[in-house]
Amino acid sequence: MTTQPVWARAPAKINLSLHVGARRPDGFHELATVYQAVDLFDDVGASVRDDGGLSVRTLDGRGRALAELDDSRHLGLRAAAALRERYRVAAGVHLDVAKSIPIAAGMAGGSADAAAALVACAAAWRLDVAPAELLRIAAAVGSDVPFALTGETAVGTGRGEQVQPVEAAPPTHWVMVSSGQGLSTPAVYATADRMGDARPASPVVDHRLLTALRTGDRQALAGLLHNDLQAAALSLRPGLAEVLAAGAAAGARAGLVSGSGPTLLLLVDDDTAAAAVTAQVAPVAATVLAGSWLRTVSGPVPGARLH
Ligand code: C5P
Repeated sequence: MTTQPVWARAPAKINLSLHVGARRPDGFHELATVYQAVDLFDDVGASVRDDGGLSVRTLDGRGRALAELDDSRHLGLRAAAALRERYRVAAGVHLDVAKSIPIAAGMAGGSADAAAALVACAAAWRLDVAPAELLRIAAAVGSDVPFALTGETAVGTGRGEQVQPVEAAPPTHWVMVSSGQGLSTPAVYATADRMGDARPASPVVDHRLLTALRTGDRQALAGLLHNDLQAAALSLRPGLAEVLAAGAAAGARAGLVSGSGPTLLLLVDDDTAAAAVTAQVAPVAATVLAGSWLRTVSGPVPGARLH
């Protein structure tokens, strides 16, 4: 028997800057990144199962079941299992995941599912979990999961899991260009390693970027956006460079690969600029990227919460 679902929602993230350090003995790379949560969300409903089982069903934006995510690799389910183990919960849970964040796009959709699952399951199982403990469990599930819990704008260090909130004054607006074909995060990191720039052991965030965010200086922000994984993502998906060039020609203030790609972000001032950039870039994206689509997003927005 299952109860009525408790729903939580968590946002997609973008990396305004991503500095990648050396590969660590555990296989992860030391990072210094500035995350921002944007208004594109996945929703997770948690229904308690009396039989102790764990299950998940994932639906796309049109309510169609998505088969490509197998249960054992589903970050939402892994998060539920980790929470259950930590608090020795006897009951199980069924998760309904309604996805709007594209899969394998570099927007941390899986991490959003995990963060929303933690919040929804904690409520459904009536657990009293301290925020610091929830962050610890989140970090064990995936590098981007703690940020999906906190949302807003934050510096991420370690493998990305250590988040420190920072102030970002006015909203930023982006035209997001994505495609049906994802890029594998491990493959992008491995390609970046092969491309072989010397990497610092301890990368750092550029403090001018934090100042630009705090003061709302868009022009400075545009010049300080940075992604160390960009060259690797462009080499694996050459069409992305053509879309970035089209974005610049269309008047976007800046463009960059989001996280490990393949989603691109074009910085614009407002909705009017977004519409103009979208109109010019869409035909180019349709030519060079399989199953391309564009959408306007803005940030910052809060992290995972019940709704
Ligand atoms: O932690 P997460 O599961 O999101 O990481 C997915 C993969 O991305 C890792 O297995 C690793 O190959 C790569 N990665 C990395 N360094 C990081 C984060 C991720 O090499 N800091």
